[in-house]
Amino acid sequence: MKLSLEASPSNPPIPNYQFPSARLAVIVGTKGRGSNMLALVEAGRHGKMPASVELVYGSNPEAPALSAARETGVPVASFSDRETDFDALLIGLLRGYEIDLVCLAGYLRLLPPHVLHAYRNRVLNIHPALLPKFGGKGMFGHHVHEAVLAAGESESGCSVHYVTDAYDEGAVIHQLRCPVMPDDTPDSLAARVLALEHRAYPEAVGMVLAGLTSE
Ligand code: GRF
Repeated sequence: MKLSLEASPSNPPIPNYQFPSARLAVIVGTKGRGSNMLALVEAGRHGKMPASVELVYGSNPEAPALSAARETGVPVASFSDRETDFDALLIGLLRGYEIDLVCLAGYLRLLPPHVLHAYRNRVLNIHPALLPKFGGKGMFGHHVHEAVLAAGESESGCSVHYVTDAYDEGAVIHQLRCPVMPDDTPDSLAARVLALEHRAYPEAVGMVLAGLTSE
């Protein structure tokens, strides 16, 4: 492993894993850009986490995040998440690709209980605020950053957490923080937090795979 000259105890070098082993699926939403999905793909390909993205699923084949996924060459799957057999289809898909860990990135619906049971403690989500504050149903996108600004918070950040049957309530695995500036708008705060998200998600995957956290 090549150590960075800037490395110090408070700024440790990012490990460079040579042999990614865990197989990740990313589940994207219908409206998101897919930037966290891309960050995970890149992190896997550049040895920044001990895993590789092997599958991207989204319910809408026209979703921007799925277009972005297709450009990476990672296999993409798309079928409706409104059908009664969605849980069986999704579990079959994940098993077919021998997926170890599922990362939600911009997916706004709850996953069916059967899926959470089949992948117990192996489904993660990223949220653009410091949970447990500013989470829950309806807290997504600009709503989150507007709430943080309205509350007069001096810092915000992102949280990677386990997914349960309730919105944003699973145990937090990893958080990164940033200041809230006096002249911040929801957009400027969102951009600062998003940059943190792209670091936090691969780091959290590494932490989970190393067994450093558990629910
Ligand atoms: C991110 O802000 C994430 O925290 C939230 O949804 C957004 C998805 O953005 N869950 P992107 O599609 O990954 O760019």
